[in-house]
Amino acid sequence: MAEFIRDVKRTHSCGELTARETGREVVLFGWVHNRRDHGGAVFIDLRDRAGLTQVVFEEDAGKELQELAHELRLEYCIGVRGKVVSRGANVNPKLPTGEVEVHVTQAQIFNRSETPPFLIEDRIDTAEEKRLHYRYLDLRRPAVQRPLLLRSRANAVTRSVLHERGFLELETPFLVKYTPGGARNFLVPARLQPGKFYALAESPQLFKQLFMVAGFDRYFQIVKCFRDEDLRLDRQPEFTQIDLEMSFVSQDDVFAVVEELVRALWREVLGVEIPGPFPRMPYDESMREYGNDKPDLRFGLKHMDLTRLLAEHRGAGVSMWSSFAQPSPGQIAKAMVVPASAGLSRTETDKLEEIAKGMGAKGLARAKVDEQGNWTQSPLAKSITPDARAAINAAVGAKPGDVILFQFGKEAQVHTVLANLRLHLGKKLGLIPEYGPRDPKDPASWNFLWVVNPPLFEFDEEQKKYVAAHHAFTRPRDEDLQYLDSDPGRVLCHRYDLVLNGFEIGGGSIRLHDPAVQQKVFAAMGIGPEEAEQKFGFLLQALRFGAPPHGGIALGMDRLSMLMSASESLRDVIPFPKTQKGTDLMTDAPGDADPKQLHDLHITSTAKSQEKA
Ligand code: AMO
Repeated sequence: MAEFIRDVKRTHSCGELTARETGREVVLFGWVHNRRDHGGAVFIDLRDRAGLTQVVFEEDAGKELQELAHELRLEYCIGVRGKVVSRGANVNPKLPTGEVEVHVTQAQIFNRSETPPFLIEDRIDTAEEKRLHYRYLDLRRPAVQRPLLLRSRANAVTRSVLHERGFLELETPFLVKYTPGGARNFLVPARLQPGKFYALAESPQLFKQLFMVAGFDRYFQIVKCFRDEDLRLDRQPEFTQIDLEMSFVSQDDVFAVVEELVRALWREVLGVEIPGPFPRMPYDESMREYGNDKPDLRFGLKHMDLTRLLAEHRGAGVSMWSSFAQPSPGQIAKAMVVPASAGLSRTETDKLEEIAKGMGAKGLARAKVDEQGNWTQSPLAKSITPDARAAINAAVGAKPGDVILFQFGKEAQVHTVLANLRLHLGKKLGLIPEYGPRDPKDPASWNFLWVVNPPLFEFDEEQKKYVAAHHAFTRPRDEDLQYLDSDPGRVLCHRYDLVLNGFEIGGGSIRLHDPAVQQKVFAAMGIGPEEAEQKFGFLLQALRFGAPPHGGIALGMDRLSMLMSASESLRDVIPFPKTQKGTDLMTDAPGDADPKQLHDLHITSTAKSQEKA
C-alpha cells in the first residue's frame, strides 16, 4: 500500500480547504487538536500552523481505520487521506475551513504523544514558567505563532526594501575583541590563546564602519547582538538588530531610508499607511517636558520645570525647598498636573506616592487646587507663600480640582521618577492602553518620533570626567566644535534615536571621520593619543586611510516586532527567549561546565567558594 510521506504527499494545509475542493481527494498532515466520539463515527480537528480541519472516521470506514481512530489522543501526529465533503447544514462559520470536512480513507499515526502539560489553545492561563519549559508545545499555539509569523514577514520586507535600495547584506564576526564603553560584554575564553578572551559582539558597530572604509558604501545586516545587561520586558541578552551603515550621507539621508523601511514594514506587514516624514524633537526638549529621551507622545501630562521659580521665590517658604533659594547645579524641581477630570481620589493620590517610592523617590509632594487656587490635601499648604503658590499655579496651568505632583532633588532621579509616573498615569487614566497600540489599523495609534541633537558627552560623577554619551565616534555638530575645549558639556552631536509609542526602537549617528576633531574629542574625555591607540587602534588607523564620511543606525527588530504584534514583552516575539534572570527554562542554560572543559580553557571558577563564604 502507498506509504505516507514517501509516496503519499501532503496536498493541502489544514487551513485552506473550502467548498471549492468538495469531492476532491486530499492528504493532510498535522496534530490531533481534539477528538469527539459520536456514536460510531469519530471526529477530530486536525491542526497544523495554517489552521484546523474537521476529519471524520466514519462508522463504516472499516475495522482498521476505526481502531486507529479510537487510539488517537491529543497531540498525536498523523497523516490522513480522504475525500472533501460538504458539511451541509452543519457548517462551522467560526472556522475558515468550516464548510467542509474530510472523510478518511487512509490514515497513519506518525507519532504518539504524551499527555500535554497544557492545552494547545489560544486562551490558557498556564504560568509562563511552565510554558517556557515546554516552549516547543507553547509554540504550537496559534497565539504564540502569530507574532513569529509577523516577524518572519518583517524580515522578508526588510531584506527586500534594503536590497532594492542598493544595500549589501554583509556579515560581521560575533567573536570580537573587547572594546571599552557601551554595554557590558559576554566574554568567551579563547582556548587557543590561553588566558585571553573574546567578547561577544554587542553590535557590529566598528565592523560596519570598516565596511565604509573598504568602500562598500551601503551595508545592512539582520544580526544578533549580545549584551550582558539587566533584563527588562524590552531587553534580552541576545537580541536582533536591523543594522545599517551608509557612506556620503547626512542625517536626513539616513532618516529617509529608515522612514521608507519602517513605512514599508507597516504597509506590508500590518496594512497601515503611516504618514511621513516623522516628526523630530530636540533631546533637550524631550528631557525638559517628558523626563526621558523616548517620550510617548500619544498623551500629554508634560512636566514643568520650577527650579527657577523656586529660586525667585527663595524656596517659597517651604522648608524642604529651602535649598532651592540658591540655584545649585544638578538640582532641579519639577511638577506634573493630573487634571481634575481624572477624578483622582485622595487614596489614589496616596497610592501614587508608594508607586513613586518604588521608583526610587523619597516621597511625592502634592497639592490639590481648590476654586480659589488654594492648596488642599497637601503638607505644603501651610507653609507655601501665597505669591509662590499663585506663581506655581500659573506656571503649571493648574485649574480647580487639578492635582499637582512635585519631584525635586538630583536631576537624573527627578526625571526618572516623573517620567515613570507619567507613563503609569497615562495607563491608569486610560490615555494609552496597558501595552500595544489602541487600534493597530489606525495610523494615529502609532506615534513615531526622531529625538535629535543630544549632547556628545555626559559628565560621569564617579570618574569626575566627561565620557562619550553614545560612542566615541559620533560627529559633533559643526557649530558646537568651538566648545570642545572650553565647555564640552555644551557640544551637541549628530546622534538620533527613533522612538515609537515611548519605546526606543532605533539609534544611530553620523560618525566622526576627521582625525583632527577625533583627537579633540578624545582630549575632552581625558583620553591621550596612546590610550586612544590602545583602545581603538584598528579603527583609528582605518580612519586615516581616506575614510569616507559615513553614518548609520540600528533598529531593534525584537522591539519592532513586539510593538507591531501588540505583544506585552520581547519574550513573545522571540521563539526561545531568556527569562528576566537570563535563563532558558527549557534547556536550563546557563549550565555548569565540565571540569575538563574549564581545564582546557585555563579557567577556574570562584563561584562555588563565593557561595560558601
Ligand atoms: P543601540 O545600542 O542604540 O545602537 O541599539 C540599537 C537598538 O537596538 C535595540 N536594543 C535592544 N533590544 C532588545 N534588547 C536589548 N538588550 C537591546 N539593546 C538595544 C533598541 C536600540 O534602539 N551600534 C549602534 C547603532 C548605530 O550607531 O548605528 C547600536 O547598537 O531598539
